[in-house]
Amino acid sequence: MAQSVYCASMSGIIPRSPAELERVSPCDRTSPRDLVSLRDLVSLCDQATAHLDPPLAVVDLDAFDANADDLVRRADGIPIRLASKSLRCRYLLERALSRPGFQGVMCYSLAEALWLHENAVGKDLVRGVDADLLVAYPTVDRAALRALAASDSARRHVTVMVDSPEHLDFVDATLGDGHPEIRVCLELDVAWSPLERGPKIGVLRSSLRTARQAAEFAATILARPGFSLVGVMGYEAQVAGLGDAPPGHPLRAAILRVVQARSVAELTERRAEAVRRIRELTTLEFVNGGGTGSVESTARDTSVTEVAAGSGLVGATLFDAYRKFRPRPALMYALPVVRRPGPGVVTLFSGGYVASGTGTPDRLPVTFWPKGLRLTRTEGAGEVQTPVLGRAADRLRLGDRVWMRHAKAGELAERFTHYHLIGPQAAEQAESETPAVPTYRGEGQCFR
Ligand SMILES: Cc1ncc(COP(=O)(O)O)c(C=O)c1O
Repeated sequence: MAQSVYCASMSGIIPRSPAELERVSPCDRTSPRDLVSLRDLVSLCDQATAHLDPPLAVVDLDAFDANADDLVRRADGIPIRLASKSLRCRYLLERALSRPGFQGVMCYSLAEALWLHENAVGKDLVRGVDADLLVAYPTVDRAALRALAASDSARRHVTVMVDSPEHLDFVDATLGDGHPEIRVCLELDVAWSPLERGPKIGVLRSSLRTARQAAEFAATILARPGFSLVGVMGYEAQVAGLGDAPPGHPLRAAILRVVQARSVAELTERRAEAVRRIRELTTLEFVNGGGTGSVESTARDTSVTEVAAGSGLVGATLFDAYRKFRPRPALMYALPVVRRPGPGVVTLFSGGYVASGTGTPDRLPVTFWPKGLRLTRTEGAGEVQTPVLGRAADRLRLGDRVWMRHAKAGELAERFTHYHLIGPQAAEQAESETPAVPTYRGEGQCFR
């Protein structure tokens, strides 16, 4: 069996320097002109939330909208399916979906998709059309499958992911003989493998690698009562989720660019052939590909009808390191200074908001403001308190805020019940000075 390498751990095959263990604040590699706008942004955040006690999280709607426009520009006419896991906040989902260029939602759980459908998220109110909700990861949630089967309306709009007959068997076993038709999407393995039977660079997801395997499985689905095959999806994480300009790592950047260029070339051919063969068997509503980091290359692939994206709206730190685009930081959080262990260090309350994945330092949050603060190697982002080092620490007083950014776009929503909205448009949202919108957690939802 071929050995596989997770894309996110490609760092394992690409040299890292020990210096990386010390997290650098992005402010420290920011040009003086950008620094001025960062300072303006932080004072806006501070002013807007001065009456609130941190920890708190804010969304800069100006930056969010500008990021949305940039994604649409990069997609160059191909619709963007919004990756809900990277927002996990209904208000932000609706805000993006109301903009031209965004169409449909890529959900991360079936229960979530049903909840979004029930709440008419993304519904086109003018035409009265519900949003198309694609669950991008296979489900074995029997209660959710039964709920899906029981709702004619949900069954028309929700699609579940499959890549093997086992998935179909599971649905049959859960829903029983003669169950109503469930919309399914076939997932293709789009990792890159330099050698046919060698290690793969990409995420470990579908087992359907070749065009022939994909077409055979499509034929299996079409022969099974109770299923309709409506789409094909492939997420090239090795391009979409790995920045090709990691700062301070020219060798890693060079290797990554070669890997990504070859992967795109290989995938364009293989995906086109798989889609061509499946289209010979049935009509597809969509072929979805990519993510924030691959919008350009995925949109250029003529077999693809839509690209997925979400993180690019928020500008999390893992997306700071791409050459082709640079999202503005739209989501930040503030932690309060609660004590001073000594010169050049203050301790913040809370803060252990570490991103999922490889467990490498790039998953840690970064200090955003004041400039020149960093996490310690020994404590990182702490469970209930987080020391930060740097000269700026000596200018901070108890109760002052340190602004941070998360490495990933959606996971902060699991830590905060509300996001405070800032920017000129925020005032339109509510009568209060700083309107706040609930995250999924704030609405009592936890889709795990
Ligand atoms: C199937 C799928 N498509 C697209 C994405 C990209 O999402 P984003 O643009 O938020 O990084 C992901 C992220 O993990 C994914 O799993």
